[in-house]
Amino acid sequence: MQGILFPRGEVEEREGLKEYRQRGGYVALEKALKGSTPEGILQEIAESGLRGRGGAGFPTGKKWAFTRECAVEPHYVVLNGGEDEPGSKKDRLLMENLPHLVLEGTILAAYAVGASTAYLYINDQYKEAKNSMAGALAEAEAAGLCGKKILGSDFSLDVVFVAAPPNYVAGEDSAALEVIEQKQPLPRQKPPFPATAGLFGKPTAVNNVETLANVAPIIAQGAAWYRGFGTPESPGTMIFSLNDEVNRPGIYELPFGSSLRFLIEECGGGVKGKKAIKAILPGGPSSAYLPADKIDVPLDPNSVRAAGSTLGCGVVRIVTEGSCIVEETLRC
Ligand SMILES: Cc1cc2nc3c(=O)[nH]c(=O)nc-3n(C[C@H](O)[C@H](O)[C@H](O)COP(=O)(O)O)c2cc1C
Repeated sequence: MQGILFPRGEVEEREGLKEYRQRGGYVALEKALKGSTPEGILQEIAESGLRGRGGAGFPTGKKWAFTRECAVEPHYVVLNGGEDEPGSKKDRLLMENLPHLVLEGTILAAYAVGASTAYLYINDQYKEAKNSMAGALAEAEAAGLCGKKILGSDFSLDVVFVAAPPNYVAGEDSAALEVIEQKQPLPRQKPPFPATAGLFGKPTAVNNVETLANVAPIIAQGAAWYRGFGTPESPGTMIFSLNDEVNRPGIYELPFGSSLRFLIEECGGGVKGKKAIKAILPGGPSSAYLPADKIDVPLDPNSVRAAGSTLGCGVVRIVTEGSCIVEETLRC
C-alpha cells in the first residue's frame, strides 16, 4: 500500500540525499524559503489538520502557533526520538531509513516557529538511527540545506544531538527538556507547557519523529492533498506496529480510519495459529483493552476513543484465547 511517508508502502533501505532529492526531497524547504513565509508554512500545517503522532494527537499547527507567537526569545525545536514504548520501532525506522525526510521536517518546523537551534533527542540505544541522522545532517549542510544561511536565505539553523536515556518516561516532552538541560529525566509540572515555556524556560516546539516526517510532504504537495488521506478530523496516515502475535509482524502505514481488522488480517496476515482474539490493545501499554468484537473499529483517535480506548503511538498488541490477560498486561 502506498503511504505518505513510505512511498512504496514498505520500509526501504536507508535513503541518501541523492535519492531523496530525486523523489522531490527538499522541494518543500525551497518552497518555504523562496516562495513563502514562516506564517505561510504554519498556516499550511494548520490547514492540513496534522496531529501529533507522539501519543496525545495534539494539532501541530496550534502547537507551533503558541511557540511562534510567544514574544520571549529564543525559540527552540526538539525532535522527540526518545521512543521507548514497548513494541514501538516506527521512529527508529524513520530515522534510520528516511533521515532526510525527518531532517527536512525539523528544519521546516524551526523556520515556522522562528527557531535557530533544533535538538535531535534520540534514544541512546538507537546507534544506527543517530548515525543515519548525523550522516543526513552532514550531507544537508554540505549542500547548503542546513546550517548557515540555508539556500542563500537569512534563515540559519544549528542542529544539536542529545542522547535520550532509554527509559519510557524520558520520552515525555518535559522530561526530554530536562535531559537536554543535563538534568534527570523527570517530567515537569504542567502548565506551563513547553510550547511557551520549554527548554531553558523558552518557547519550544517538541514534536514526535513521525509528526515531523509528515511536514515536508504537506508543504510540498499542500494541505488539500494531505486531507485526501484519512478522515476529516484526522487527516493523513499513521504508522502502526504489529508484533509477534501476527504472522507478519512489522510496521504498516495506513490512512487514519482504516479498520483494526484490516491491519491485523490483511497487513499482519492474521493471528498466528489462527487463534481466536480475546482482547486488543490498540495503542500500546498506556491504552485500554478493547474486546475482540471491536475489531472493526476505524483506527483514528475519535473512533478508538468512542470504542473505549486510545490510539497512543500505534503499537497494537493482541491477547489471544488461552492467554491470561493479567500476565499479558504485566508483560507489556
Ligand atoms: C510517559 C510518556 C512517555 C512519552 N514518550 C514519548 C516518546 O518516546 N516519543 C514522543 O514523541 N512522545 C512521547 N510522549 C509524548 C510527549 O510528551 C509529547 O506529547 C510529544 O512528544 C509531542 O509530540 P507530537 O505533538 O508531535 O505528538 C510521551 C508521553 C508520556 C506521558
